[in-house]
Amino acid sequence: MKQRLLVFLTIVIALTLTACNSNNDMKRISQQKTSGDTSKQEQSESSRELVNFPENYDKGVNYTTVNRGDVREELYTSREAIEAVQKRKPIPDGTVITLEIYKDEELSEIFVMEKRNGWGDQNPPEMQNGDWLYQEFNGDKSVDYEEDIGRCFSCHANQERDDFVNTLDEMKDYELNESAKSKESSTKSPIAGIPIDHWNVKAADSNRAGSQDFVHGKGDGLLEGEKKAGIIQKVLLMVHFKQET
Ligand code: HEC
Repeated sequence: MKQRLLVFLTIVIALTLTACNSNNDMKRISQQKTSGDTSKQEQSESSRELVNFPENYDKGVNYTTVNRGDVREELYTSREAIEAVQKRKPIPDGTVITLEIYKDEELSEIFVMEKRNGWGDQNPPEMQNGDWLYQEFNGDKSVDYEEDIGRCFSCHANQERDDFVNTLDEMKDYELNESAKSKESSTKSPIAGIPIDHWNVKAADSNRAGSQDFVHGKGDGLLEGEKKAGIIQKVLLMVHFKQET
């Protein structure tokens, strides 16, 4: 009985691994397809094509507003980034901070900074702020190529101590809403006493529901929250079952 279960488990694990692998290959191919035309630009010194317009940024946390005469700035970032800052942890890989600029109540520009592992190497040393890159968009979401992005690097470089962010204190002070927080913490709670935060669970089906979570280019296929917990729970149950027999 024990042996049959072991064989069964091995097959299940092998199947899952193959599914994950082929899924990764598919992704790599599709990434190559979509990024094929930008690879030339990546090789050149220009890193401007890397930061895309952050669709749905306004569904993130509007953590502060800055008023300067008839100019109003609305600042947005992800809940994960705010939580990391509040826990005195580094701002996570993949974080996007968006700053809307309204002139006389009309959206005129959208400034974006985005942090990704390895992005610092895209630029010459005099244009490197850690792994952050910058982009300026017009009110209609098109890239403002007239803007000198070097300006963003040199001014934000003054904030190196705060990971190149000017409004780190505002992120620290922002009160995340309680209900959302408790939802978050429920997914962070250990399963059967085993902390699962550092477990990576990949979906084997690339057409899975909820793939809109990956629109922002976070498409590493990793599952989060309840889905992740559910899968881990199933695997742990299987292991438990095996021990019982
Ligand atoms: C002269 C200095 C200066 C320049 C140049 C500058 N910034 Fe900033 N930036 C700031 C300051 C100061 C803030 C804080 C908000 C405020 O006070 O308006 C800020 C805030 C931001 C934020 C919100 C996160 C943060 O750091 O608080 C983003 C995103 C941003 N800037 C992007 C850009 C981009 C993109 C460019 C270039 C197109 C740029 N900035 C150029 C000074 C600068």
